[in-house]
Amino acid sequence: MPLTLTLSPHAGRGGHKRLSPSFLPDAGEKKEAANADAPSPRKSRGEGKGEGLRGNAPTIYQLENLTMRNTPSLENYWMPFTANRQFKAVPRLLASAEGMYYTDVDGNKILDGTSGLWCVNAGHGRKRIADAVARQLTTMDYAPSFQMGHPIAFDFAEKLGERAPGGPDAKLDRIFFTGSGSESVDTALKIAIAYQRAIGQGTRTRVIGRERGYHGVGFGGISVGGLVNNRRVFPMLPGTDHLRHTHNPERNSFVKGLPAHGAELADDLERLVALHGAETIAAVIVEPVAGSTGVLLPPQGYLERLRAIADRHGILLIFDEVITGFGRLGAPFAVDYFGVVPDLVTTAKGLTNGAIPMGAVFSSRHIHDALMHGPENQIELFHGYTYSGHPAACAAGLATLEIYEEEGLLSRGAELAPYWQDAIHSLNGLPNIIDIRTIGLVAGIELSSRKDAPGARAYEIFTDCFKKGLLIRVTGDIIALSPPLIVERGEIDTIVSVLGESIRRIS
Ligand SMILES: Cc1ncc(COP(=O)(O)O)c(C=O)c1O
Repeated sequence: MPLTLTLSPHAGRGGHKRLSPSFLPDAGEKKEAANADAPSPRKSRGEGKGEGLRGNAPTIYQLENLTMRNTPSLENYWMPFTANRQFKAVPRLLASAEGMYYTDVDGNKILDGTSGLWCVNAGHGRKRIADAVARQLTTMDYAPSFQMGHPIAFDFAEKLGERAPGGPDAKLDRIFFTGSGSESVDTALKIAIAYQRAIGQGTRTRVIGRERGYHGVGFGGISVGGLVNNRRVFPMLPGTDHLRHTHNPERNSFVKGLPAHGAELADDLERLVALHGAETIAAVIVEPVAGSTGVLLPPQGYLERLRAIADRHGILLIFDEVITGFGRLGAPFAVDYFGVVPDLVTTAKGLTNGAIPMGAVFSSRHIHDALMHGPENQIELFHGYTYSGHPAACAAGLATLEIYEEEGLLSRGAELAPYWQDAIHSLNGLPNIIDIRTIGLVAGIELSSRKDAPGARAYEIFTDCFKKGLLIRVTGDIIALSPPLIVERGEIDTIVSVLGESIRRIS
């Protein structure tokens, strides 16, 4: 019997909505009514079973699974950061990925304008990573990292250490592995507090974040984060506070390069020192370029000033580089790009090209060494995760580093940045655009909000672009773009023209 692709979304148990490959925007009733035994449009393209990452997209692996299981229900999967009911009414389902493109379950190609979720920096379906992971899993799938070790974790940490940001005198080359960006953030905050205590500054337990910051979803991360929807329902860590954000469209809109105005906002740290007392503050954490809130660039001189104030008061500076790490700005890290060296750097995402979940905190030696005290049989930091240094994640990370290096991807963003900037700024003048910001291979395009419907305009543009074969990301009424670092100029042109048409259409 041929593969079933145009299945009823209501075919499942108890009338629950069921996943259907034809279940894309516009699929609607027409497709539901179609012959359930209709031949697969994708099967006819001749993709063979088991091609997986090797073949050109799309693989039919997932489709065959769907068919064999007569399409899974949509009910059970509680999706993260998703309007579940809205999504499940009209799902957008991706089935395979190769290079710059996803392929959805109906076989439509979708240009990836967001590197997945800011993570697939080397593009999709990298065989080298898949092979390394497969090799590692069949050699040793898992090994504990508590009072035990395995060579590949040390190997990966060493390689990361060699490439760590910070320059020869202040390399942040002590690496603590985590499983995600959120875990990296909570780890860095805990290391900062533990360090202060280790150097006799035990009253320093307060951590300072910034309004509009995003540092993941752990209690530490949301407490220093500054996005109201992530905070309003939950209790916060005691003793956190926030710098003001740096977004100032009145003075800085449509600027190319770093905003000229706003360095003085770093003085907020002085204000918080005056308010709380320096002796209560362990660390301040910022994203060097705020990503998730809608791509906010640091004003010229801001990060330098923050570093100086933190130094003056014995406060550690943490850069959250979960997005900016691994080439996004056209340099390996934002530390390299801005020439400002913090004490700790949090990473994840591009660390493994998104292929296996993993994060890493890069620590300065003085922090690490301060904690390596006391009896040698004593655990120095009571912190860690079952999956810290997971062998398969390390294998993915090592292969990812090789790709980055061989293909020059950690600096490719710098070569493309002028082209990217001009292309994105060519959208200036389209309806409702109130600001455009770019840096490296990132862009934020801010739209005015509709009266009483914040976010609606950008969401419609997002769904419209998806229908037209382009994946963008929206946050409120800001469109964020961050294509894989393998992007070619022609693909940048496509991103801009599809997006531009969509912005015109949805006014
Ligand atoms: C700056 C920053 N920090 C932390 C995180 C959290 O990472 P994760 O989703 O892997 O927990 C993100 C995710 O987008 C991020 O952008």
